[in-house]
Amino acid sequence: MKIVLVGYMGSGKSTIGKMLAKKLGIAFIDLDEYIEESEDMGIPKIFKTKGEVYFRKKEYEYLGEILNDQKNFVLSTGGGTPCYGENMNAINKATSNVFYLQVTIAALIERLALEKAERPLIANIPDRELPDFIGKHLFERSFFYAKAKHTINSNGKEVGTLVTEIQGLL
Ligand code: S3P
Repeated sequence: MKIVLVGYMGSGKSTIGKMLAKKLGIAFIDLDEYIEESEDMGIPKIFKTKGEVYFRKKEYEYLGEILNDQKNFVLSTGGGTPCYGENMNAINKATSNVFYLQVTIAALIERLALEKAERPLIANIPDRELPDFIGKHLFERSFFYAKAKHTINSNGKEVGTLVTEIQGLL
């Protein structure tokens, strides 16, 4: 079974994906970690030394590798993965178990303010400008996230509740 989680940075894809994979007894793959291991470099350094275009190219390649080569997994994608090139089509072609974890802007701002450093797209945005940035960015990206077969309203729900909800839709 192939399961793919999409959603904005800080929407809980990795936390939920790990628990879901454990419950289903299948592999958990974090696309960001897969890229970092394959490239032998952290994401912030890839952005800094090679640039975002290089990162997006690699993200596309490794996404395809995982979707084609592996059979049973929960894949947590990066926040931007669905929004570039053919990525979302490739995901939807590989499986119908695609879940968009929808979270309010307020919750994202709260979480991301604490976790900015490891995310190059927001690392240099002053805290006071973060709400505006996230609001606009999420608005642009929602178009792509909405292509997921399932939208999970994740607001105020425990991780365990969300995992059970997703399991019920498989
Ligand atoms: C990105 C999100 C990050 C990572 C990279 C770019 C984005 O993943 O792929 O920093 O474009 O939103 P997370 O969603 O796991 O933070």
